[in-house]
Amino acid sequence: MQGELKIQETTQRKPKPDTANLSFGVYMTDHMFTMDYKKGEGWHDAKIVPYGPIPMDPAAKVFHYGQTIFEGMKAYMGEDGDIRLFRPEKNFERFNRSCRRMSIPEIDESFVLQALKELIKLDRSWVPSAPGTSLYIRPFAIATENHLGANPSLSYKMMIILSPVGAYYAEGLNPVRIHVETRDVRAVAGGVGEAKTAGNYAASMQAQENAYGAGYSQVLWLDGVHRKYVEEVGSMNVFFRIGDRIVTPSLSGSILNGITRDSSIQMLRDFGFEVEERPVTIDELSAFAEDGTLLEAFGTGTAAVVSPIGEIGWNGKTFKIGGGETGEWTRRLYDELTALQRGDIEDRFGWTEVI
Ligand code: COI
Repeated sequence: MQGELKIQETTQRKPKPDTANLSFGVYMTDHMFTMDYKKGEGWHDAKIVPYGPIPMDPAAKVFHYGQTIFEGMKAYMGEDGDIRLFRPEKNFERFNRSCRRMSIPEIDESFVLQALKELIKLDRSWVPSAPGTSLYIRPFAIATENHLGANPSLSYKMMIILSPVGAYYAEGLNPVRIHVETRDVRAVAGGVGEAKTAGNYAASMQAQENAYGAGYSQVLWLDGVHRKYVEEVGSMNVFFRIGDRIVTPSLSGSILNGITRDSSIQMLRDFGFEVEERPVTIDELSAFAEDGTLLEAFGTGTAAVVSPIGEIGWNGKTFKIGGGETGEWTRRLYDELTALQRGDIEDRFGWTEVI
């Protein structure tokens, strides 16, 4: 397989950004991980090298047929000076599930996790420590064969890049406004909605642009068959507090199986709250908003963490949730999850891994 990991350290460290103004995904660290695949040889040439552009042939299949997948994960700097990864094995498991769906050869999860740890150690001075900041980790794989035939590539590149980040949304921790998309759909069961592949995101951009134009931050997707079940936001899974229960759409085959979603369900249940995973229609949400029982809404994701939703726009009307303020249960989940990720409280779930 990939053999030994080689490390080539940069001689020119870049200046660090101001951690008070990181926003999301703007700055990249000094190094990156790369590994190549060739049919017959398997994954090979695993190395950490100075961060920089990669030469690509214009005929590479990824440019034409979108054979590519990615992951999103984070490392956190604790007050104790330790750097922690959050459930990294789950991300690499999902990486391989996405690979299978997209006909990309699977990686050796434990080898790549070890390589990621080496990469973070080399770039540890880039891990921000201010509250609300973290080191975003983007593993991805692309089809590199130079051939215009629409069939699985015979060669691939897998890479990991790192980016110090703050809040994903410009609103920071303030509630976002989301718009229910009624024309386009993001994914259908049997398609690739469950895989973390570029096409799902590309397909959402037109609706996203329209939503932005109307003053919303994100699109809330409905299912592609009945056009009535709430699915996800694209950058996050969604949760609703209806009275004294929390409801989140069940995984339908077209919703991303979020690791923050799963962690939130476990943590909310641990708080003693009732969490239901079930199909949720937009009509019932609208009715619950009208009768005052839709008390809170929030999204979860690696980049989005736990993001309160203050308003939903649907079919020309809008409904405010919790008076447009961050709800009590949302705040508690955000505080406790981020404290656990940063090592500020005991990790009773065994989710963090000090590197
Ligand atoms: C993540 O949360 O890690 C994602 O991959 C979502 C992306 C839109 C930033």
